This record gives sequence, C-alpha cells and structure tokens, in this order.
Amino acid sequence: MPRYVLAIDQGTTSTRAVLVTSDGRIAASAQREHAQLFPQAGWVEHDPAEIWRNARLVIGEVLARADTTRHEVAAIGITNQRETAIVWERATGRPVANAIVWQDTRTQARIDALADGDVDRFRDRTGLPLASYFSAAKIAWILDETPGARARAERGELLFGTPDSWVLWNLTGGPSGGVHATDVTNASRTQLMDLRTLDWDPDLLEAFGVPAAMLPSIRSSSERYGEASSSSLVLHTPIAGILGDQQAATFGQAAFEAGESKNTYGTGNFLIVGTGEQLVRSRNGLLTTLAYRLGDAPPRYALEGSIAVTGSLVQWLRDNLGLIGAASEIEALAASVPDTGEVYIVPAFSGLFAPYWRPDARGAIVGLTRFTNRAHLARAALEATAFQTREVLDAAADDLGRPFAELRVDGGMVRNELLMQFQADILGIPVVRPAVTETTALGAAFAAGLAVGFWSGLDELRATWSEDHRWLPQISPAAREARLATWRKAVTRTFDWV
Ligand code: G3P
Repeated sequence: MPRYVLAIDQGTTSTRAVLVTSDGRIAASAQREHAQLFPQAGWVEHDPAEIWRNARLVIGEVLARADTTRHEVAAIGITNQRETAIVWERATGRPVANAIVWQDTRTQARIDALADGDVDRFRDRTGLPLASYFSAAKIAWILDETPGARARAERGELLFGTPDSWVLWNLTGGPSGGVHATDVTNASRTQLMDLRTLDWDPDLLEAFGVPAAMLPSIRSSSERYGEASSSSLVLHTPIAGILGDQQAATFGQAAFEAGESKNTYGTGNFLIVGTGEQLVRSRNGLLTTLAYRLGDAPPRYALEGSIAVTGSLVQWLRDNLGLIGAASEIEALAASVPDTGEVYIVPAFSGLFAPYWRPDARGAIVGLTRFTNRAHLARAALEATAFQTREVLDAAADDLGRPFAELRVDGGMVRNELLMQFQADILGIPVVRPAVTETTALGAAFAAGLAVGFWSGLDELRATWSEDHRWLPQISPAAREARLATWRKAVTRTFDWV
C-alpha cells in the first residue's frame, strides 16, 4: 500500500526530493546544491547535467532516509524554478549549452528591440511585460549563439524545456523514450503561450524566433504524464503532477480559490493571489499567470508579484561581502542593533521586477554614515525583503479592489523571526506561518497525488493545512508610513543606472 507521494523540487540553488504522507506531512527530504555560474556581469547559468545528476541522487537519498522503496510511492510530482531555459539534443540528451537562469539579464538588448518602446506589446496575450526574466528570448539567444543550433532546432533535433520538462524527460527515459511535456503554469512563463487558448502562439513564436518543433506539449498540472524508466530507483512510478515552484507553493498552502494567497521567501519573493477562472489584468505591474489546472477542469488564474532578489541578498552578503559565515547568522547579527541606522539596501541586481519592471535599475545602499556597521547592513537587507513585499501587496490590493486581511507565508526565510515581525509591522496586517513551510514540495505532491487518487480532492488537502505561528503588527501607522516613504525614496536612487 503506497504511503507517500514523492516531490522533486528543482529550485534555483538546489534540487530536493521530499516524501509527503497522506496527512500532508514531510516524512523525509534530501537536498543537493548545484553550482551557480556567473560567466559575466548579469549572466547566471546552471549546468543541466549537474541538475539531473542531483535529481537522481536526491531521489535515492530520500528513499534511503525514510527506509522505503518505490513500492511505497504512489506518484511523483515535479516542481521547479520557472523560466530557466534548457536546450538539449533529442537523440543524445546532451544539453547544447548551459541553462540560462531566470535571473539572467543578457537578453535585455533583444527585449528592448522587440518592445520598441512598448514593453506591454504582448501583455494581453501572455499576461507578462517584455522582460529578460521570461524564457522566450533566452531560448532564441541559445539558438543564435550556439553554432548550428537554430537549423537543428528547426529540423526537430533539439528540444527546449524549463527544468520541469528536463527532469520529466530524463526521468521517463531520456533519448530512449522520454516524455517531452510541461504544464500550463510553466508554459505561462515562457511568454510563448496564449493565456486563453493554453497553446503555443504562432505570432509569439515568430516574434521571438523560436521554432515550434522544439517545444514541449502543454498539459495540465495534475495528470499522468508517463512512468519513471529503468534508469531510476522509482521504476514504473507514475509522474502525475507538474507545477512551477511558486504555483506549487500556492497549492501547498491550500490557497485554491479566488482571493486566497501566499508569499514565498526564497531566492526571490513571489506573491500569488488566485483569481479563479477569471483572467485579471493588473494595472500595477503584477503578472497575470496560470495558478493550476487539474486534468480537464477549467484552468485557474492568478496575479503574481515577482521580486527578483530577497534571500539571494543574504547569500550575497555571505559570499560576496563576507559579512556573515552562514545565511542563518543574519538574524542574530541584525538583531544586535535596534535599527538600521537609517540605511536602506535596494537589491536591484537584475534591475527591479514587480511592481516597477525597471531593467535600468541597479542595486544601491543608501544612507551610509561613519556610524554604519555590518549589523546595520544585515538588518537593512532583511528589511529590504519586507519593503519589497509591501509594495507588491499594495499593487495586488489595488488590482483586486480590496485590502489583504492577513498574509500566509512560506519558504526558507520564514524561520527568521525578526524578519517576520518586521514584515507584519511594515504591512500592518498579521503574517501567518503554516505548520509545514515546505509548501513548494507539498504542492507538487498534492497535484500528483490527486491525479492517482492518493487524495480524494481539494477538501481533503485543505484539511491538512494548519497554522503554526502568527505575527501581529507592533508599530504605529505613522512610523510605518515614515519608513515606507524613505524606502520609496531609496528605490528611486537605483533608476536610470544602465
Ligand atoms: O520565477 C523564478 C522562481 O520560480 C524561482 O524560485 O524558489 O527557485 O528561487 P526559487
């Protein structure tokens, strides 16, 4: 009798395998980091072969850790860093180039040329502004910069996929029969899919220069895509769920219905608010995106506030400045001072995403005085996450015409109590952390488990959610507004830099 659903979470910095029980608990997990490659300023790459190797390894490790085998695994769900573009050979499975990661800004010149002054050219069809963030221009870049690649892609010899497709294709057999598919949530971030038809759009393919022959088929988020092949420890286990990681976290928070939301604190921060079967257009710089689609049921849509840099700012303080030895040290360091000494950090490393969409912005630390020390910088880095979150929440509240009553949070940084308290202070509403904060893996498992009958439906999943902690705002509205006004001033200091 199967006891678990296995989730594979192929994230920006690591790949995880997680076993989820029928009551929505995490029974075991395993994780491996992969190299972050920065060949030039603004470029971010991953080695797809390393990612697939890590995925295989963590599957073995998590089964061993739970002292179980594939016989107790009902299904596999895949979730992933979205937008990251991988192109590989159909015949050999060999990538033709490194993955170009979502944070990579090398395609900005192509984007500017395509936009020709109107970054919203494709917004109606795709829900997205023209930005280097999305996959389409990354694919075209690989085809143009890799000798012979474009002609090979047109002949159908090369395949494109976001990391979900890459893992699925390899897990189901690779060159000897791999399934080449993606789900609607991932497809909605390529900027090549029409939000209404849920199909690749010929005009967009033409505009970006992406051959249709290399694209995966677009499937729902919860159905049987194929079975794991003999090269894996999960032979014959059905792969039955795929969700982009932010949509997976939303699903894992049981935020299924219109108006329900979550905010995930990872490499970046991503706020998602469901809008049900309705496609809502943002007037405030948010993305319109797919939330999920279960089999043949109508698709569900969402608004998203994507923030490029939050957790990765802490990594930057650790790796590039040597301010801390481990990411976990930031809370104690930040708590060693009562405030930031008026310092603000605006981490516009990849320009600014929502709600600004300013590719011309670059990071700034403002308000420095001779008094400033490393603790002030640590505290300002945490506050930057909370301020950016406040801005996307304001945008969403305005789009939806009603304020948020509270904010459900998840992701690695929500263990940071100082940050969570400051988040509640700066939002002026309660911040709520669930018992299981690994909602990304949970959501992918939920989608897969639903497709194979491991769970009966959304009500059963909803019943697994429980609250762990709630932070209430503790500062006055006047103090909040004063801090926000200075933050907004700091943001303007990053504009027009490149
Ligand atoms: O859109 C990018 C997002 O999917 C990456 O998420 O958690 O891997 O930083 P994460």
